[in-house]
Amino acid sequence: MSAPATPKYGALRLTETLGMVATLLPVPAVLLWDVARTTYASWNKARTLKRIAGDCALRYVLGSLSVPQLQNAFGTTRATYEAWVKKAKLPEAIDELGEDARLMWIGPKRLERVIMFVHGGGFLLPATDFSLSFWRYVQLELEKQGIEVGIALFSYSLAPIATFPTPLKQARLGLEFLLAAGVQPQNLQLAGDSAGGNLIVQLLSQMLHPLPSVPEIHLPAPLRGALLISPWVNLSADSASHRENDGRDILRRNTLARWGATILSAVPAGDRAFAEAARAPAEWFAGADRVVERVLVTAGGAECLRDDIVAFGEAFKQHHARTELVVQAGGLHEDLFLDFFVSETKFASLTPLTVEWLAAGFTE
Ligand SMILES: *[C@@H]1O[C@H](CO)[C@@H](O)[C@H](O)[C@H]1NC(C)=O
Repeated sequence: MSAPATPKYGALRLTETLGMVATLLPVPAVLLWDVARTTYASWNKARTLKRIAGDCALRYVLGSLSVPQLQNAFGTTRATYEAWVKKAKLPEAIDELGEDARLMWIGPKRLERVIMFVHGGGFLLPATDFSLSFWRYVQLELEKQGIEVGIALFSYSLAPIATFPTPLKQARLGLEFLLAAGVQPQNLQLAGDSAGGNLIVQLLSQMLHPLPSVPEIHLPAPLRGALLISPWVNLSADSASHRENDGRDILRRNTLARWGATILSAVPAGDRAFAEAARAPAEWFAGADRVVERVLVTAGGAECLRDDIVAFGEAFKQHHARTELVVQAGGLHEDLFLDFFVSETKFASLTPLTVEWLAAGFTE
């Protein structure tokens, strides 16, 4: 048995532990100041104080802690899932895919219609429990419309231990597992946020331009849909929206730049289009309409990644007519999920829009 790749508390160096404690000490003052600074800001007009405070807390934690500290604080996707199902009083169902990848079912395991959720976190952090709460909400909303859907959280190995193209190889296993289990491509929608959106685009790239280092993906028919929520498609954090929205968004520009550099350092120069779809040649996504039928790309108007996502969405549309690009006014990075971090009950219009888009994918 090789040692597990997941960081354990004891694996943290003492200096890092002390650093984390020291960073966490000034929380109340810093947080209060940030809440005061942002409560009446233009992009927060439609938000409750609870939600604004939640965003400030996330901005503080994500901007203050190093990657090892964050990995230690957040634990693993599996542990997050196990704690979440327990709290939600839902069954635990995990399919092992091999190579340290798995599918973990949110709510009942169903194979008739499936959403495979590819979580974000810069390829460095596990799934958050509030993103699972979002997907459970979607599942129940779809049930209200008579649509029963299985939602599988895809779990993959994280950087810096696992590097490109390991997550792509693992995502391919997830897809192949579902197809082998009898899921019809026309009843399968992929959904991913941030790095998860990046990974879904890597899957599309692999279908169109197979890398020799990754097994080919053979689809018997096009997939029904791909939902890309604030996809991380340009890793350099240098477009205008990064300057405009630094301090508004939950992720700071310098955090994105640091994480981007970490991820890119392991990507061979020739494979850059896989890791950064926004930089792919103009014809890269030609034929994308033959591998996925419908695509929805979302961005937040007040998120750092906005301009990169819009540039990617517009370029992708040139090859894929059934692509919609939606920029949520005042939206932050993966804004849909942030409401669930604070158990918000009032959602921005992007949430019902997304539910409707997924529902249409299963009923049209
Ligand atoms: C990606 O980021 C770089 C650096 O900011 C920028 O020059 C380039 O235009 C971006 N590409 C797209 C398509 O957004």
